[in-house]
Amino acid sequence: MTDPKLRVLIPSQQIQQRIREMGEQISADYPDGELSFVCILKGACFFLTDLARAMRRPVSIEFMGISTYGKGTNTSGEVRVTKDLDTSVEGAHVVIVEDIVDSGVTLNYLMHLVEQRKPKSLRIATLLDKPERRQRKVHTSYVGFQIPDEFVVGFGLDYAEKYRNLDDICVLDSEAAARTEGR
Ligand code: IMP
Ligand code: MG
Repeated sequence: MTDPKLRVLIPSQQIQQRIREMGEQISADYPDGELSFVCILKGACFFLTDLARAMRRPVSIEFMGISTYGKGTNTSGEVRVTKDLDTSVEGAHVVIVEDIVDSGVTLNYLMHLVEQRKPKSLRIATLLDKPERRQRKVHTSYVGFQIPDEFVVGFGLDYAEKYRNLDDICVLDSEAAARTEGR
């Protein structure tokens, strides 16, 4: 697909390779005990399914819905839980699986929230990290790629609910996207 608004930043093959490495690493770090991945909807679901299949040990899967962004590219700073965990994670090792850490507002909030559910341990795995944009402190244990301060879409990440199903992670010219929106 050629879209003039998109430029490939991380090609699919590289994403898949890195996720396999992350799966090996997380598997090695949790030799025993109950392990639960908490996937943050919707963006992280593509990462979650590949990461879970790269694991060399059993892992259960939970989902949490969180909304921070409106339709554009700027955070509102407001975090809202749209779907809570269905199953207790008390006593389990929990890894929060997220697509991207940007300002850190979402994960900072989520860490406190999940902490209250008394997991045995709690860590974060994120596919992407934009460290330049950080406003809140977040400790990420597993990071796929650090990226510059650009708005990206694909492999789960969206702009106004579009582009999630791209195989590659692409930089979006968001001004051009906003101009053509609704056409
Ligand atoms: P934070 O709370 O600012 O760290 O933002 C986290 C959320 O904002 C992510 O889970 C994404 O849903 C969204 N987000 C941040 N940066 C991008 C981006 O470059 N593209 C698409 N979504 C993004
Ligand atoms: Mg997200």
